[in-house]
Amino acid sequence: MRTLKLESVGSSQIPVEAVRGMTQLDRSKFATTAHVCVLQLPVCDVENVLRKVKKVMVQLRNLKSIQEADEQTLKEILLDPALVDEELEREVRSLSPCCSWSERDVELTYENFGAAEIIEAVVGDPCRGHSRIGHLVQFNLREHLLPYKHLIGQVILDKLQPAVTTVVNKVYWNPRLANLHKAVLAACNAGDTLCDVFAGVGPFACPAGKKRVRVFANDLNPACYEYLQENIRRNKVSEFVTPYNMDGREFIRSVVRSQILLFQEPIPDGGSTIRKLHVTMNLPVLAIDFLDAFQGLLKDSWTGGEFQAPRMHVYCFVRDTEPNPSPLERVRRALGCDETVLPDASVKDTFVRKVAPGKEMRKLVFELPLQPLLQERTISEELRQPSEELRQEIEDDLKKEK
Ligand SMILES: C[S@@+](CC[C@H](N)C(=O)[O-])C[C@H]1O[C@@H](n2cnc3c(N)ncnc32)[C@H](O)[C@@H]1O
Repeated sequence: MRTLKLESVGSSQIPVEAVRGMTQLDRSKFATTAHVCVLQLPVCDVENVLRKVKKVMVQLRNLKSIQEADEQTLKEILLDPALVDEELEREVRSLSPCCSWSERDVELTYENFGAAEIIEAVVGDPCRGHSRIGHLVQFNLREHLLPYKHLIGQVILDKLQPAVTTVVNKVYWNPRLANLHKAVLAACNAGDTLCDVFAGVGPFACPAGKKRVRVFANDLNPACYEYLQENIRRNKVSEFVTPYNMDGREFIRSVVRSQILLFQEPIPDGGSTIRKLHVTMNLPVLAIDFLDAFQGLLKDSWTGGEFQAPRMHVYCFVRDTEPNPSPLERVRRALGCDETVLPDASVKDTFVRKVAPGKEMRKLVFELPLQPLLQERTISEELRQPSEELRQEIEDDLKKEK
């Protein structure tokens, strides 16, 4: 423990040399002693004197700068000794002739400091460049700060919970997509099932789980999967949300397929409950291409009857330089069907947002027709590989996200 003299109100008292460079958060290392000036005065003078001393009061989290004195008729105001001078003392005395001045050591701990000053003291960098959306904070940490990512996340949670429940670094999270998430959520009701093929860290999945929607959420990226699991746990939705870590096509052929089949079975309460299976595919550069995985999906298991179609929510990018083929035409090609199976009127095509000049994100919502699920595959394996142009577009998008 060391004794620090407050240099100026609001400046950090953290013992920097004890904490700089730590990668495992050791809260005990933040303990320190600060030397403060104590102005004791009658309760009835406090209001008047406060106007004079406000600017030099000690301002630290969880430390009251106005405290009870031993005597009930007195109060104590903690001031920064570096900013108290004779002139101020004189002015205060004129307002409160019975006041007295002294000095005192105050023990400070991790609890007295804010997240920003703690992080800056440890990493030597103010760590700007993060965004906050609802309960989630996302950092884009530069290379040299990566060793501190767990510590930074822990400090943010310590200081900002319950307002912030999740901190992520550089996994996919786009705050501009909040409305998009709301739209899918609005489409799902308690009792429905949602298969999220490209779930990211769970911005659809967790709120849907909170709405008592049964969710199967998948992401191929191991970091996303890790945070998806964490978010499910923190949001207490594990009863409703099951995470998967596989390729989107594999997820469609296994998990989505079994849900489609389950929705064909009579429901236990004799059919009085209307419930819906939704499939959301939010990977705009590639989602349409992944629809080929639905071809022949029920070829060997369809037993006839009325088809309970899943409702598809498929995102894509459209450039105004190449309006052809249209997104709907691309959907038909990927499913291996034509307009008689998927007519224009059966697909709701909505604008989501402009992503760049001449490029916008759109969402297609439609009931998945049965025919593609029963037919032989019409798309060769080669066509499933993204073209060179598409590969370039994916790389550009990833760079932009970074
Ligand atoms: C645009 S983000 C969408 C995340 C989330 N649904 C949202 O709205 O914020 C796309 C996600 O797809 C994941 N992804 C990319 N390729 C994939 C694949 N082949 N299979 C499954 N997930 C994939 C990425 O890791 C990324 O998290």
